[in-house]
Amino acid sequence: MSHEAFPTDNPAVVTVGLPYANGDLHVGHLRGYVTGDTVARALRRVGQQTAFVCGSDMHGTPIAVNAAKEGVSPEAFALEYHEEYAETFPKFNVEFDNYGHTHDETNVETTQEFVRSWIDGDHVVEKEIQVAYDPADDQWLPDRLVEGTCPYCGEDARGDECDEGCQRHLEPGEVEDPVSTLSGNPAEYREREHKFLRLSDFQDYLQAFIDRMDGTDNAKNQPREWIEGELQDLCITRDMDWGIDYPGEDGEGEEDLVLYVWVDAPIEYVSSTKQYTDRVGEDAFDWEEVWTVDDEDELTGEDNGEIVHVIGRDIIQHHAVFWPAMLRGAGYNEPRAILATGFVGIDGKALSTSRNRAVWADEYLDEGFHPDLFRYYMINGSGMETDVDFSWDRFAERVNGELVGNLGNFCYRSLLFAERNYDGTPDADVSDDVRERIEDAIDEFEAALNEYRVRDVGAVPIELADYGNEYIQRNEPWKLTDDDPERAAQVIRDCVQIAKAIAVLMQPVMPEKADALWAQLGEDGSVEDARLDEALDAPPATFDEPEELFGQIEDERIEELNEKLAERVEEATEDGEDDAEEANEDTMDFEPESLTDERISFDDFGDLDMRVGEIETAEPIEDSDKLARLEVDIGVETRQVVAGIKQLHDLAELPGTRVVLLANMEKAELFGVESNGMVLAAGDEADLLTTHGDAPLGSKIQ
Ligand code: 2FM
Ligand code: ZN
Repeated sequence: MSHEAFPTDNPAVVTVGLPYANGDLHVGHLRGYVTGDTVARALRRVGQQTAFVCGSDMHGTPIAVNAAKEGVSPEAFALEYHEEYAETFPKFNVEFDNYGHTHDETNVETTQEFVRSWIDGDHVVEKEIQVAYDPADDQWLPDRLVEGTCPYCGEDARGDECDEGCQRHLEPGEVEDPVSTLSGNPAEYREREHKFLRLSDFQDYLQAFIDRMDGTDNAKNQPREWIEGELQDLCITRDMDWGIDYPGEDGEGEEDLVLYVWVDAPIEYVSSTKQYTDRVGEDAFDWEEVWTVDDEDELTGEDNGEIVHVIGRDIIQHHAVFWPAMLRGAGYNEPRAILATGFVGIDGKALSTSRNRAVWADEYLDEGFHPDLFRYYMINGSGMETDVDFSWDRFAERVNGELVGNLGNFCYRSLLFAERNYDGTPDADVSDDVRERIEDAIDEFEAALNEYRVRDVGAVPIELADYGNEYIQRNEPWKLTDDDPERAAQVIRDCVQIAKAIAVLMQPVMPEKADALWAQLGEDGSVEDARLDEALDAPPATFDEPEELFGQIEDERIEELNEKLAERVEEATEDGEDDAEEANEDTMDFEPESLTDERISFDDFGDLDMRVGEIETAEPIEDSDKLARLEVDIGVETRQVVAGIKQLHDLAELPGTRVVLLANMEKAELFGVESNGMVLAAGDEADLLTTHGDAPLGSKIQ
């Protein structure tokens, strides 16, 4: 952590990547919004002044194309989704302080100001470049209107992004063998003049920035590869009608240019904060204190506001490379932290909207599930960087086990006992042990937040409930009421205090359920307004009989939901097209990927600590279609690793197999199992690498 700990004296802004106003929201989208909302609430919880802002991303080629298909204007098309999103987020208790959109007046103005600053600072250059063009349809093919092959990894790629392969941002003209996605016609490259932000102007700045930026490891580490190489200029204009006009001098051809969607999208973070200030007034929240820099040379100075971006891991380059350069070029503040979340899978497979293998936001709510249960699943289910698998089985298991069985059970039994025997909080002091345990929980909450361990923030109240259950069970107050009433009162007094602390600490993840618990404790108002240390204040002397906070999800219900999902996926793939495609992948002639041009040094290779190992145990990981848990003896020690080989190997046959293990792979957690290393395997069939002689276990691969 290279910044002053939260809470600081400066205001903070938390943002989440803007959703493209281009389709219904599903659980994959919601993970990011729930994470951002939890971070914003947790920051407020520790006393940090925080605005949580976002907006809809209205521009870009897919929106223009889909609007044309429906015969409506892109603006009308995108606005409809924008309104849908603005209504849906609060239903998941995702409460933005401002939710704007990239086509609104504030953002058009702010974006054009940014670009003018870059022009004035001499960071914009004009270049003749090759742009994909469909001669048959007589039209330019920006971004997603063209597909072909990624020049870096050889996978199929769209115009501005290699989303199936190396995930790189691609500049116009880079896709090889271009084809129009509109007509299927082969495209050609034609010369055209475009504007570029000269990223190389910011190379030194970005290198220093990435060293001081906080956040998840993926966001801190991945950009190094891009920043350390020569930075390619970023093309900031497109040949399209839909977008924000390029604010140039109206030179020849400029009137047809709009700004690239990735220019105005992040600027909406600033615009949305401005709108918030306009609404509440500068005294309540001053956007300039966050976004502008008091002292340009002192970007990490004490007076700068705290900008925290929550994004999906596919847009790290945009936020950790392009965006800081854009901000710097316009004289703005830089992000303090970037938190990049993993993706969401469904039932062990990738979420696919085209195959309807998704759980939709409305669907979840229509099934009658409380939003806080979903929030809990997303936040507490895995580390932020790890992909989360959503399955109704696992959802029910976690709700029933951790919420109904642990947290809910503890609070209910404690408050019920308290109400029946003492009318509320017994008249006694909290014991030292319990007070210390609650203090520890508060410390862990603050530490986890400061290190952006959002899952651990969510785990604090659950662990406290665990402690509470164990405490009440060990002390058996129900046996003490007659023989030792004083001791009974003491134990229940402790439990009521633990319940109150749970309400305060669970609020960022489960705000509505926390309020319900708060009300059960006889407290006034919302727990949101309680400070963290109020977890230790005495609850009211009297309260009413409590109700269970969470209800059990029955097996039949889950079976029903599983069937519904399976039927839907089947219907969506009824024509067999997608299944055939999947089957084909197996039988298609194998074409190896082209070789990478980038060479690595001996030293770089030497950094890989690869060892000969032998599989001792191989067992399936329940709930996952692909993953297996292996124990691999590598001579010096035995490592547990998670490998995606469940369907590809007979696990019973694996013990005794010699493998190669990358021992210094960063640790990961998959389906709650820690993976400490990686076994090497070739190709999609995960053909395990082995040795031909009998090099002793632990031998280094060199
Ligand atoms: O990738 C996306 O879904 C984009 N709409 C995210 C934009 S985030 C930001 F920078 F604006
Ligand atoms: Zn690629």
